[in-house]
Amino acid sequence: MGRLDRYRQAPPSISGRRRHDVVLGIADASVSALWAVSGAFRKMKPPPEPNRVIALTVVDREVVAHDHDVIALTLAAADGRALPRWHPGSHLDITLPSGRLRQYSLCGDPADTDTYRIAVRRIVDGGGGSIEVHDGLPVGAELTTHGPRNAFPLTVPGYGSPAQRFRFIAGGIGITPILPMLARAEHLGVDWSMLYAGRSTDSLPFIDEVSRFGDRVEIRTDDVMGVPTAADLLSDCIDGTTVYACGPAPMLTAIRSGLAGRDNVELHFERFAAPPVVDGRAFTASVASTGQEVFVGADETLLTALRRSNVAAPYSCQQGFCGTCRTRVVAGAVDHRDTLLTEPERAGGMMLVCISRAANGERLTLDL
Ligand code: FES
Repeated sequence: MGRLDRYRQAPPSISGRRRHDVVLGIADASVSALWAVSGAFRKMKPPPEPNRVIALTVVDREVVAHDHDVIALTLAAADGRALPRWHPGSHLDITLPSGRLRQYSLCGDPADTDTYRIAVRRIVDGGGGSIEVHDGLPVGAELTTHGPRNAFPLTVPGYGSPAQRFRFIAGGIGITPILPMLARAEHLGVDWSMLYAGRSTDSLPFIDEVSRFGDRVEIRTDDVMGVPTAADLLSDCIDGTTVYACGPAPMLTAIRSGLAGRDNVELHFERFAAPPVVDGRAFTASVASTGQEVFVGADETLLTALRRSNVAAPYSCQQGFCGTCRTRVVAGAVDHRDTLLTEPERAGGMMLVCISRAANGERLTLDL
């Protein structure tokens, strides 16, 4: 697949739909014609079927942070077919060999339909997914996905977005969805700058790839300059800037509060960890199958408390959008904090334990 194909499609809108633009349409038609003419010279592959389960094989592993805690995996379709296309900001829902479901941002080249690239930081005290990726996925290992999804799309000037320039902000492994955005912004000639922050230079993934953009990127590490303030993060945000940020919760909180009242600066962000609990009240959850009682603190999630108490509860995103932690409530009223469950599901007693809580600090009994 040649470079020409990368920009055959206009970037999608925030909802992922294609936009209609006359100039773009003419350009797209021209490129399409070229594409059709060149068809005989390309390796023809059948188009992927929507929603099929795609078996992926690990074809390469690379350490991409000097502290060796981040590895990049290159994945190819096990059957050799072309992979579904994606745009910057997309992620894969990946089912690991253990059955764990995890989300990883795509951080390779969107023009490459032969392989995907993801990167994973080792989290020693996490849920085991990153350890499995680091220690249990050698070259040749297989996993599955349903294909890319985009909850963090890049919308660009000239394609319906009012943005005049971009400010990218990445914290550590938060670079993964941002990396393809840099290349896209550069290719489209959009003015942009970036702050890339982390604990130390050694902990920053892809620092060589990011450094090739030169002065556009400021690399700032806590061990030398301290934790960046909102003013540091937003130092290059004149009116008309659109901010794309991905990083730890305190960084995103600082950015959001720093932009309060700035109606002419648009903010798009993606978390890679559970959001902080807001206005939580402590409560107790009972496990119906064992009678075990689990205390849930005011500032922790029910899922966190269950895991701390060694109660097996499936989970993935920890942010209320994947549905993996859906659990039936046998008794008690729920303070639903997600937008995923339908009213019939809620009426049927289901809740998302990663984000929802007991209403009014009541006791909940869970069908676990
Ligand atoms: S873990 Fe994804 S919705 Fe709860």
